[in-house]
Amino acid sequence: MAILKIARMGHPVLRRPAEPVADPGASEIKRLIADMIDTMHDAQGVGLAAPQVHVAKRVVIFHEPVEGSEEEMEDDPSSDPRPLTILVNPEIEPLGEERTLDWEACLSVPGLMGMVPRFAHIRYRGVAADGTVVERLAEGFHARVVQHECDHLDGLLYPLRMTDLSQFGFVEELRRAAGVGGEL
Ligand code: NI
Repeated sequence: MAILKIARMGHPVLRRPAEPVADPGASEIKRLIADMIDTMHDAQGVGLAAPQVHVAKRVVIFHEPVEGSEEEMEDDPSSDPRPLTILVNPEIEPLGEERTLDWEACLSVPGLMGMVPRFAHIRYRGVAADGTVVERLAEGFHARVVQHECDHLDGLLYPLRMTDLSQFGFVEELRRAAGVGGEL
């Protein structure tokens, strides 16, 4: 278990497609996942993808948003009610063309946030840490988090998905006028 260094925008590991994991049960993958969990919690992030810790493999972890949990978190970050999902070799299928706009932030783009369009409804699947297959429907912020994390596996950071760069800036400045954004 270790807290790993997080790659920032501009590092080549964030721009190249990550490799599929041949054996999701391998000890090196278990160790990677444990280190990613430590790293995400230390950085107070909502999600993390392996390329963000300089490992070009298709592994993501994230907390599923729970209604109202953000307010609780601000009062007491240790009482995290959001379940943790681990996905190896995840795949996303958009359900319909509807897209929603909302704020996103990213541990690899520290201090900044932007308004990003994402599919409103998706189906996603992947292999969990225990080797079982996870398949879920997601919408809203849950769907957004999954799309953000899986984009990391294809070398895409959220600013590349933005359609209006006037809605991109420093969290400190934007929070004065706009909603909150999590660190994805
Ligand atoms: Ni991110």
